[in-house]
Amino acid sequence: MEWKLTREPLASVATDAIIVFHSKERESTQGMAREIDEALGFRISSLITAGEITGKLGEVTQLHNWGKIPSGRVIVVGLGEGDQTDLHQFRHAIAAASRAAKQKGLKSLGIGCPSSIIDRYNAVDAVQAIVEGIELGTYEHQKYQSETKKRELKSVLISIPQLNEQAAQAGIERGQIFARATNFARYLSHEPANLLTPQQFVDHAKQVAEKRGLDMEVLDESRLADLGMQALLSVARGSEAGARMIVLSYRGAPESTEVLGLVGKGVTFDSGGLQLKPSPFMLDMKEDMAGAAAVLAAMDAIGELRPHSNVLAVIPVCENMVNGQAYRPGDVIRSFSGKTIEVAHTDAEGRIILADAISYAKRKGATRLVDVATLTGAVVVALGHEATGMMGNDEEWADEVKSAARIAGERMWELPMYKEYGIYVESEIADVKNEGGSPAGCIQGGLFLQAFAEETPWVHLDIAGSATAPRESGIFAKGATGVAVRTLIQLAVRFG
Ligand code: BES
Ligand code: ZN
Ligand code: ZN
Repeated sequence: MEWKLTREPLASVATDAIIVFHSKERESTQGMAREIDEALGFRISSLITAGEITGKLGEVTQLHNWGKIPSGRVIVVGLGEGDQTDLHQFRHAIAAASRAAKQKGLKSLGIGCPSSIIDRYNAVDAVQAIVEGIELGTYEHQKYQSETKKRELKSVLISIPQLNEQAAQAGIERGQIFARATNFARYLSHEPANLLTPQQFVDHAKQVAEKRGLDMEVLDESRLADLGMQALLSVARGSEAGARMIVLSYRGAPESTEVLGLVGKGVTFDSGGLQLKPSPFMLDMKEDMAGAAAVLAAMDAIGELRPHSNVLAVIPVCENMVNGQAYRPGDVIRSFSGKTIEVAHTDAEGRIILADAISYAKRKGATRLVDVATLTGAVVVALGHEATGMMGNDEEWADEVKSAARIAGERMWELPMYKEYGIYVESEIADVKNEGGSPAGCIQGGLFLQAFAEETPWVHLDIAGSATAPRESGIFAKGATGVAVRTLIQLAVRFG
């Protein structure tokens, strides 16, 4: 998509459509919308009076220009409660408007950056939000159909009367980097498991490493065996596809010993293993690598932004399948850390492969950790698809991740890690077990991983709910959301 800036008012730009905003409980149009409204002979105001335009967040109303302005159409989009509009809502509204424009087959858009948003935040963040709203809102998942309708939004012109060119340009660049990375994660998550095998995931990682000049190491099965990574190898044994551990490293602060470690669950398909998932629950399990996708996509963006920090990514990839070699309930596995794991449930495989990945990230020098994983159905019960479940062992580090998420506009909610919950992962024959019944299912996942993070400040993000959107809404297309990518990038930028 091509991005351009102008000082000219929206009423005089010539695009296929211009986007203007309206907030709830306002009887008339304001700011830029006012100018357009006047030019159109107050047609927008009359629709407001008629109750057809309410200003509800994401409400889209399309009007023609009646030959009164150079642009072909006017799209009025609701901003919700005007005085409280945050960047999250701002993106949501812009995404809804631009998606509607794309669906109509429009190719160029004009959009004004409301001065209220610039005043409350700043020009960089406001423009970044516009770019993210449009690039994320107009994203469409890969299709494999012989005939597809090809619609493409080609250019967007942002009108800012008091234009600070440098700030706006920085906002465009950041917005593009954050949105492209998110869309890359969406693409990977959405790919069917037969087209994105562990080896194909490795190939994607190689391309990222080459493009961004990152150091890359791929541990294959014999290397994994030499290192004693039986946790990852055990889960992978039920599949012909085998296991890989991908290690990517970005060194933007060579003088520092601080290293941000990002770990992502990369189960390219989760059948449940011998404790096979019931059919309806298996269908979406191609997305069980959304955590790995988020980490890889974030590394892509970090390699492009080049912040002053060191970032290490460790991504275990495999399938959880069934054959004569598959791991069994009751098996005891020695992990890379030396701790033994009792397999209480073969479908709680994510935490097992993450155990080795977290230990390896520490071995490789990570001083702070974040893992991202589609770990439990329980987090979907607790928080739905609207928020990521967050747990950790260090308050300060958890606060850091929370602020990064807030800035990125992603919702994360912390769950408690009281030590009384420890009974659920206590094993009678091994150091830990991977499942302890239905209570506190999401927290059990966190507690299990904590045993491997040990003293290193660590945050666990359970994205099993937030990685998929059940319906199209705001910046989300139905399906993979690319959640956590923007938070991770933000974290790496702030880490420096
Ligand atoms: N990949 C699933 C979790 C999941 C569920 C992701 C729904 C996306 C949507 C994970 O490996 C799993 O199967 N977890 C089990 C754990 C249980 C056996 C302790 C679960 O949540 O049922
Ligand atoms: Zn599972
Ligand atoms: Zn899984």
